[in-house]
Amino acid sequence: MRYLKGKKIGIIGLGNMGRAILNGLVSSGAVGRTSVIGFDNDPAKCADVRKKYSILISKSILELVTHCDSVIFAVKPQNINEVLKEASFYGKDRLHISIAAGITTRRIEKALGGKPRVVRVMPNTPALVGEGISALCKGRYASRSDLKTADEIFSSVGEVVELNERYFDLVTALSGSGPAYFFYLKEALIEAAVRLGMDRKTAKRLVLKTALGSARLLLESGHEPGLLRQHVTSKGGTTERAIAVFEKAKIKETVARAVRAAVRRSKELSRG
Ligand SMILES: NC(=O)c1ccc[n+]([C@@H]2O[C@H](COP(=O)([O-])OP(=O)(O)OC[C@H]3O[C@@H](n4cnc5c(N)ncnc54)[C@H](OP(=O)(O)O)[C@@H]3O)[C@@H](O)[C@H]2O)c1
Repeated sequence: MRYLKGKKIGIIGLGNMGRAILNGLVSSGAVGRTSVIGFDNDPAKCADVRKKYSILISKSILELVTHCDSVIFAVKPQNINEVLKEASFYGKDRLHISIAAGITTRRIEKALGGKPRVVRVMPNTPALVGEGISALCKGRYASRSDLKTADEIFSSVGEVVELNERYFDLVTALSGSGPAYFFYLKEALIEAAVRLGMDRKTAKRLVLKTALGSARLLLESGHEPGLLRQHVTSKGGTTERAIAVFEKAKIKETVARAVRAAVRRSKELSRG
């Protein structure tokens, strides 16, 4: 952890993602507990995090930014302005890392004023179990070493990919919202099995292991999904019948339309 060595990291917002990052940082040993400082509006969340992770909790955003080399903004997009305003009151020579969906590096730079170092990240919820994938890009004034710092932070909760910011609406629609699409398909499969008479617990077990096994097979074989699908689809068999129903319903086109709708929504949110 070359870039995190000796650095103090602040996390503003200790909700789902803030806690996932904190958990990854501390449990992977990327940094020591004394190197992370947290803050949240909600005193109950602060108390809970202090108890569970034994990290320092600051009394305010100002106190946090005063003591940190890197600050992660893990609040909802609708709360980012108030947080940036408070963070801008104290010198800006630290690294600012935002995970807020749809908030561009330009917007953060403008809100902070001057030439702040900003890195934007789009993680996803599998980060909660260390299996996330995060896209990273840097603002105008951040350096390569700032990107490396963010890379080390988010590598503690999964994989990291560096991408040009122009792809961020697509990343948001693909891997940011993506876990929900897979949950939706699993929901549908479980409901189909229950309707056909199976108990929910067994259906869930069958569907989840099938999903996990399929993902591992894809990753470990390195094959394209289409090829692996063909391997399961023998001529005149059961899979072929099911896929024919998907094709008739134009599922691929529906998925493409859904991703386009999410991209459009991300662009709308970016405009504020
Ligand atoms: N969840 C995802 O799938 C996902 C994926 C990628 C990116 N993100 C991004 O991650 C960010 C956080 O999402 P989340 O799901 O972790 O949200 P969350 O669970 O609601 O957590 C945000 C936390 O920030 C607190 N907060 C609000 N205003 C604050 C302030 N002024 N100062 C300090 N703390 C404040 C909230 O407290 P209150 O509840 O009291 O308001 C809450 O505890 C969002 O910007 C989202 O776009 C989320």
